[in-house]
Amino acid sequence: MPASSGLISIIGAGSVGSAIAYSLLLRQVVADIVLVDIDHDLCQAQVQDLTDATFLSNVRIRQGGVEDAQKADIIIITAGAKQRPGDTRLDLIDRNFKVLKSIILSLQPLRTDTILLIVANPVDILTLFAQRLSGLPKGQVIGSGTLLDSVRLTGILASKLKVSETSIHALVIGEHGDSQCVAWSTATVHGTPLLKVLPLTEAEREEIAMTTRMKAEAIIKVKGFTSYGVAAATSRICEAIIFDHHQVLPLSHWQEEWDCCLSLPAVLGRDGIISSFPLDLNEKEQSFLAESAKRLKKVVEGYVEEL
Ligand SMILES: NC(=O)c1ccc[n+]([C@@H]2O[C@H](COP(=O)([O-])OP(=O)(O)OC[C@H]3O[C@@H](n4cnc5c(N)ncnc54)[C@H](O)[C@@H]3O)[C@@H](O)[C@H]2O)c1
Repeated sequence: MPASSGLISIIGAGSVGSAIAYSLLLRQVVADIVLVDIDHDLCQAQVQDLTDATFLSNVRIRQGGVEDAQKADIIIITAGAKQRPGDTRLDLIDRNFKVLKSIILSLQPLRTDTILLIVANPVDILTLFAQRLSGLPKGQVIGSGTLLDSVRLTGILASKLKVSETSIHALVIGEHGDSQCVAWSTATVHGTPLLKVLPLTEAEREEIAMTTRMKAEAIIKVKGFTSYGVAAATSRICEAIIFDHHQVLPLSHWQEEWDCCLSLPAVLGRDGIISSFPLDLNEKEQSFLAESAKRLKKVVEGYVEEL
């Protein structure tokens, strides 16, 4: 039997949407998953393929329309254009703003307790647009943000330290994109400051931050897209929501102080973002974060009239 009741809908059944569905069904996060895509044949084929994996978990997966999607506990939006080699995530904004707007309008009326989880890029900007367009409380509209980047960072640090990834708490904050920043001063290995057990030079830190930041581009250059990491991260977010974990995760959410959505740690549960979790950044990290916010706000300004 599935570990939970509940329904998650995924709008956009391409590489990312289908990988998220696969991850959710293997981890039995909910009993039912609905996939929606304007490419009906692709969506149908993805559902058929995914159905061959449901024997491991008894999760039901089916193709649906917006009328099915709007009934979900969590609506995940992956629909939209993806980066081509050399594109930044911000380059996708024009195309993906239109897609997001049409999807959110078609989903109305939304369940008042639904959580909208934005995965399509540029995720921070689209999360803010989704907050404005959906009319839902801001805490119920979340972007997958830098959870994936933080996982990438932690993976690199774990292999250097030869300890498990779960022993390390290290965060990438700010934009899920080029202006992201590593919060080195707050990173720990089971409570001990990371830089005490791994005394990295400034150059080594920059090298690790760059490898983390450029990982998606390196993968896209060869296979054309990334999917498994973001799917695992999205699945973790959904688990924290469905099971009301109150887990602290770096997610894109509304930041009053910065007047935009970007990633900082937040407490996540069934109602969405319960609160931002304070992070004691040093001056340099604060100024990186301010730069990240400035860059995101500048992009948003170009769209204010269309919201
Ligand atoms: N946040 C992250 O960490 C992260 C990681 C990887 C990819 N992404 C982003 O996820 C998005 C999807 O990437 P992908 O590789 O799955 O792309 P893809 O091209 O494989 O899939 C996108 C799907 O969206 C569908 N679609 C487009 N408009 C739609 C609409 N109005 N309604 C329903 N479906 C619609 C398309 O038919 C397509 O099947 C991209 O924006 C990509 O940049 C985000």
